[in-house]
Amino acid sequence: MNILNQVKQRRSHFRKEFTGEKISQEEINYLLECSIHAPSHKNTFPWRYIVFSGESLNDFSKKIIEIYKQRTAVEMQNPEQIDNFEKLPSQVSHLIAIVMKRDEAKRVPEIEEICSVACSVQNMYLGLNDLEDIGGFWSTGMFCFTEQMHAYLELGSEDKCLGYFILGKVNQKRQQAPRPDFSTFVQYK
Ligand SMILES: Cc1cc2nc3c(=O)[nH]c(=O)nc-3n(C[C@H](O)[C@H](O)[C@H](O)COP(=O)(O)O)c2cc1C
Repeated sequence: MNILNQVKQRRSHFRKEFTGEKISQEEINYLLECSIHAPSHKNTFPWRYIVFSGESLNDFSKKIIEIYKQRTAVEMQNPEQIDNFEKLPSQVSHLIAIVMKRDEAKRVPEIEEICSVACSVQNMYLGLNDLEDIGGFWSTGMFCFTEQMHAYLELGSEDKCLGYFILGKVNQKRQQAPRPDFSTFVQYK
């Protein structure tokens, strides 16, 4: 398939679409291998992925409930939200924390490393095109930017969690995201 059709076919599939079935290690490896072929200035390779599944995903779910309770006044805590966090391990097959590992010598500005990690996530998104019954999406929910999550993921002081790539089996994949004509986004000078 040509590249334009590949990128047109790339879609997010969300938790409510997941069947709860598990994805094989081979398929996860395929996505991770796609991820590392992203560009990075000075080849700093700033992407790091921390994969949660099975028992570790149960632990992740407990952690986000703990963070939610720490950060939300008791009278504001919503049982439906807690229930949503509790259901995560039964709906999701794998949750991959997306991490920017800062170059120790800071050879490039931080924003370049963040951009590079985003390219790497896009590669995983595109890799999903080859996996017929697997969907996923980039989530920036579940306290990914908090100091509690930073500590839980045992990140270095300059590193950043940029969210999660959340994966599950889906019955049917949607194709062709709606987009306006490309000229909408372009200026010529
Ligand atoms: C940086 C980033 C953060 C995102 N965070 C969330 C999120 O927290 N929750 C969510 O449902 N979708 C999130 N998304 C996915 C978008 O909702 C999705 O890309 C958008 O709906 C367009 O759909 P498509 O990916 O199928 O084209 C995020 C996407 C990006 C690039």
